[in-house]
Amino acid sequence: MLALPLRYFLFCFVLQTVRWHIELQPWASPTPSLNYEASRFLKYISTSQISCEHMNLNSLKGYSKTTKKPWSICLDERFSLIHRIRSKQCRLYSLGLGNDDSQFELGMASSGCEVHRFDPSARAAHSQEGPRLWYHRLSIDWRDPNPAVAAHRLRSSTKKLGTVLNEFGHQKIDVLKADVESAEWKILENLILEDVVEQIGQLVFEVHIHWPGFEVSGNDSTVVRYWYSLLRELELKDFRLFHTYKDLSKPQMFLKKEAFNASSCYTLSWLPSALTQVF
Ligand SMILES: *[C@@H]1O[C@H](CO)[C@@H](O)[C@H](O)[C@H]1NC(C)=O
Ligand SMILES: *[C@@H]1O[C@H](CO)[C@@H](O)[C@H](O)[C@H]1NC(C)=O
Repeated sequence: MLALPLRYFLFCFVLQTVRWHIELQPWASPTPSLNYEASRFLKYISTSQISCEHMNLNSLKGYSKTTKKPWSICLDERFSLIHRIRSKQCRLYSLGLGNDDSQFELGMASSGCEVHRFDPSARAAHSQEGPRLWYHRLSIDWRDPNPAVAAHRLRSSTKKLGTVLNEFGHQKIDVLKADVESAEWKILENLILEDVVEQIGQLVFEVHIHWPGFEVSGNDSTVVRYWYSLLRELELKDFRLFHTYKDLSKPQMFLKKEAFNASSCYTLSWLPSALTQVF
């Protein structure tokens, strides 16, 4: 008699913990329209939600160069990052794709952070490139490779961020930087669906909007609503935008068109808003 309710309970529990889709926000207008979706989304990514005074790595000892791109992190005293850096407990994961500009990573390493750079074009599987700076020949993906495909047949390995954290035995990342040429949307979705964002402090992502991105489908309004919904899920997880940067040096394109005065590329920085972060 008791077995059935228990089984039923377990069944519901499993259903609740495995999420396959993010929650889609209502359309921006009663009838779906690209104009309304785009203006809601572009306004969202152009508006910071929490203030941060100190965003410049230059204020840290051991770091003097100016970076080309504003990979902004928040170093205000009321947030934990600056304290983690001072006590040399800070950890940065940087996801890239053969991008040469590593000034931000070098700066973070010389400021006292343990830096892990994930790049499928790295020359060795794992190598130490400087004090507190490691390179890994890994591409961070939104799924793990199919176990049916032998690892040696894959040119470089792909893994989900949660898998890498488990394998490295890392509980927390203080800063996650991602510069992954449109893979950021599905990676972000994976981090949200698997609750991996809860292990992350600040997020600094370059987002691309000149096309839907890898494996994002639907008409233009659907795509923009999906992007917006993803960012709202992040907000639901307590992340707040503290810096947004519109890259005017990149083509000014929005879903393959010159429209809405948008750039193809924005750099967005979030932090968990709770003032008493546990890490
Ligand atoms: C786009 O797709 C959605 C969902 O399938 C649909 O409701 C909408 O009418 C389509 N067209 C436009 C212009 O949004
Ligand atoms: C277009 O964007 C640029 C740069 O962000 C801004 O300076 C300009 O005022 C915008 N133009 C319009 C018409 O909104």
